[in-house]
Amino acid sequence: MSSNVQAGGIPVLVLREGSNRSRGREAQHANITAAKVVAESVRTALGPKGMEKMLVDSFGDVTITSDGRTILDEMDIQHPAAKMLVEVAKTQDNEAGDGTTSAVIIAGELLNKAEELIDKNVHSTIIIDGYQKAAEKALETLERIAIKVDLKTPDYLKKTAMTSMASKLVADYKEILADIAVKAMLQIAEKEGDKMTVDVDDVKVEKKTGESLKETSLINGIVLDKEIVHSGMPKRVEKAKIALLDASLEIEKTEFDAKINIESPDQIEAFLDQEEVMLKDMAEKIMKAGATVVICQKGIDDMAQHFLSKKGIIAIRRAKKSDMEKLAKATGGKIVTKLDAISSSDLGYAALVEERKIGNDKMTFIEGCKHPKAVTILIRGGTDRITAEAERSLHDALCVIRDIMEEPRVLAGGSAPEIEMSKVIRKFADTLPGKEQLAVRIYAEALETIAVVLTESAGLEPIDIISELRTRHENGETWSGIEVREGKIQDMSKIGVFEPLTVKKQIIKSATEAASMILKIDDVIAAGKMKAPPTPPGGAPGGGYPGMGEY
Ligand SMILES: Nc1ncnc2c1ncn2[C@@H]1O[C@H](COP(=O)(O)OP(=O)(O)OP(=O)(O)O)[C@@H](O)[C@H]1O
Ligand SMILES: [Mg+2]
Repeated sequence: MSSNVQAGGIPVLVLREGSNRSRGREAQHANITAAKVVAESVRTALGPKGMEKMLVDSFGDVTITSDGRTILDEMDIQHPAAKMLVEVAKTQDNEAGDGTTSAVIIAGELLNKAEELIDKNVHSTIIIDGYQKAAEKALETLERIAIKVDLKTPDYLKKTAMTSMASKLVADYKEILADIAVKAMLQIAEKEGDKMTVDVDDVKVEKKTGESLKETSLINGIVLDKEIVHSGMPKRVEKAKIALLDASLEIEKTEFDAKINIESPDQIEAFLDQEEVMLKDMAEKIMKAGATVVICQKGIDDMAQHFLSKKGIIAIRRAKKSDMEKLAKATGGKIVTKLDAISSSDLGYAALVEERKIGNDKMTFIEGCKHPKAVTILIRGGTDRITAEAERSLHDALCVIRDIMEEPRVLAGGSAPEIEMSKVIRKFADTLPGKEQLAVRIYAEALETIAVVLTESAGLEPIDIISELRTRHENGETWSGIEVREGKIQDMSKIGVFEPLTVKKQIIKSATEAASMILKIDDVIAAGKMKAPPTPPGGAPGGGYPGMGEY
């Protein structure tokens, strides 16, 4: 399609040369196709019988996962409409922490069905309108059927955490991991009336290869993947007073070159002595403040290490900024940026600081902190890939626990809620006229895709199962769903497959929003590739601007 217009037979150039423009049906089809491809790529990853994806990045690093967001993140997608589905996964993850695969599958299916209607000359605004109305009914239905949960019995928390991990590589250990996740979250939760508020980031997750997932443990405190810097320092300090430093214990090198003219050996010695004095002075300051442990975000000079060790002070260097912040919160200490200003009131407290050997490495445990709401989950596992997937799965588990703590209502899974929503939306469609009815009806069909995918993953024939599920729901069996392990229709609430209401509501919201947004686009104007800016002398070579090229 041309990007130019004709005025009295003379072409007028509106867009930059090389720009690409597509309009109307053509643009819609291209966008829908791209988004469908993305949805297709995560489809088989859904549910406990879903498949894993092996993703290899440009450095050759391998990730094995069935986590929707991770799959899409690693895929390095270029097409702008396809990228919008990646955004769906991100929104879903940020808002609810689980349900990313479902959200993308439903969004893809909403677009797929919309395309069929567009081909039958139904305008996309009618479809978008219908989707909006259907989504409202869906949300109403979820609110109506949701089961209220009493947070005093952590049973639902555990079951929901187990459901979220049932679909992951670590499923065999879901019970052990769910117990740990629930304990961790209960520890950090703050009560506000009958609700709780929690921040998932307060649970620190560390991983160390070796042993098995069974050995994953919960530590009441902070674990640093760091060893004590000097072999002469104690390996264990009780009632530790902890200095948190965001300053280096080194002699700063000046930015400009300086020359020192040395005329006699005495002067060299004096110069070196001077450095030593300065480092010794630093160690003195820390000791005078009363610290028995120093955790430093920057480097510690060998000589400074020596002086600290002589004073029996434990030191750790190059701690991560995020860890420093957690330590400040946990120990009640202040992060000091100028060593000169350190005083005893800046120090944090922990009942025990100890270096322990974990696998082949040493890690430092800071336990019994002043503020007890600091916990660490230390993941163990045979390989890096297992521990990495365990970390992602634990993230989902921690998020669903948080979701329930903040909104204590759950739904049973296995596509029971989707079939129920679909039933209600179909009935609603019957009350609407003509084309609008069609738009609402296809929304109901799109929701059933979750049941189709789960059934297929169990190796069963979807047509029979879906019609059976529909009948059961018509007969008032709200929680009838497909249990994929045994491949049977069951009352999902009786077998403990629970998911937070928050997750399902967010799936509806994110999927509808993304599908509507893509359907609204009927004109795509892409700028031509920009020429690379000239390379400044000695500077990095200029490249094109990624994402702005033709696609
Ligand atoms: N035993 C089970 N039988 C049937 N369905 C189950 C069972 N356990 C979980 N499910 C279903 O599996 C789906 C969740 O699968 P999965 O965790 O792979 O995807 P997601 O939560 O949508 O996305 P992600 O976890 O990748 O963010 C939910 O619909 C849930 O009800
Ligand atoms: Mg999940």
